[in-house]
Amino acid sequence: MKIKVPATSANLGPGFDCLAIALDLWLEVEVDFFHSGVFVNTIGEGADYLPTDSRNYFIRVIDRILKMWGEPSVRNICITVDNNIPLARGLGSSAAVTVACVKIASELAKKRLSAEESVDLIAKIEGHADNGAAAYYGGLVLTGIKEGRNNIAIPIDLAEELPKALLAIPRHRVRTRDARKVIPTKISMYDFVHNNSRTALSVYAWTTGRFDLLNLAMDDRVHQYYRLKLIPGANQMLKAAKLCTGIYGASISGSGSTLIAFGLEKDLLLLAHDWADVWKKKAIDGDMLIVDISKDGVIVN
Ligand code: HSE
Repeated sequence: MKIKVPATSANLGPGFDCLAIALDLWLEVEVDFFHSGVFVNTIGEGADYLPTDSRNYFIRVIDRILKMWGEPSVRNICITVDNNIPLARGLGSSAAVTVACVKIASELAKKRLSAEESVDLIAKIEGHADNGAAAYYGGLVLTGIKEGRNNIAIPIDLAEELPKALLAIPRHRVRTRDARKVIPTKISMYDFVHNNSRTALSVYAWTTGRFDLLNLAMDDRVHQYYRLKLIPGANQMLKAAKLCTGIYGASISGSGSTLIAFGLEKDLLLLAHDWADVWKKKAIDGDMLIVDISKDGVIVN
């Protein structure tokens, strides 16, 4: 079994826990169900320090799902992981693993989950639905809580022509758990209306191709301000994006530490220079990547 899962960027500014988009940057997994024992072989990101035995995150998630279904733990499996999604940088690395694990656990338990059931399960494991839903469906998704703890995720039709995304991925990691703790639990009516209107405007911009609206639409008042202090240089970089000609919009990607900006490649290259200057002045190390938006979600062969 071969599984490919895309990276994802959640929130896109104001859509905290309800908006995410898939990126053309992939976690690739190959599974051998006839291996004797449990072995996880990681290639690429994490290869030098991730455990290869049942302590590996893949096996822990697969076992957690099997337990939820009343099935025994996995005993015979070899998973080869080729991961291009940087870990703990707000690019949905853990959601991508969870999507792959739901596919693997379903195969082991011979379960046929619908897309809705899969995304709901992924959201329950992840604690929020946005990254997992975008990784599952591809493209842009809107997510929310249906009732109780059940999640709903709706794939949104994207415009035909899409911008590219510039990712500024610092070495510095931010754990989602920590980045959620810094957000106030109460918000003002003013901020609520601000974010509501911009989330709706974002969906309009992405579906109609009115990307000129993203600069306004990606402005957030609920989480980003509080998280900027966790990401050195981020404040200056977002200001630079506002001043850079042609850039449609920029935000923290998910809970950080990556920043994401949308635009045409030629404009993103100029912004990459401005962002690199900020990093240089602050002695921040990292990688800049320009990637496409992926209309494809998880692919299983
Ligand atoms: N919506 C989540 C958050 C995404 O911002 O905490 C985490 O990548």
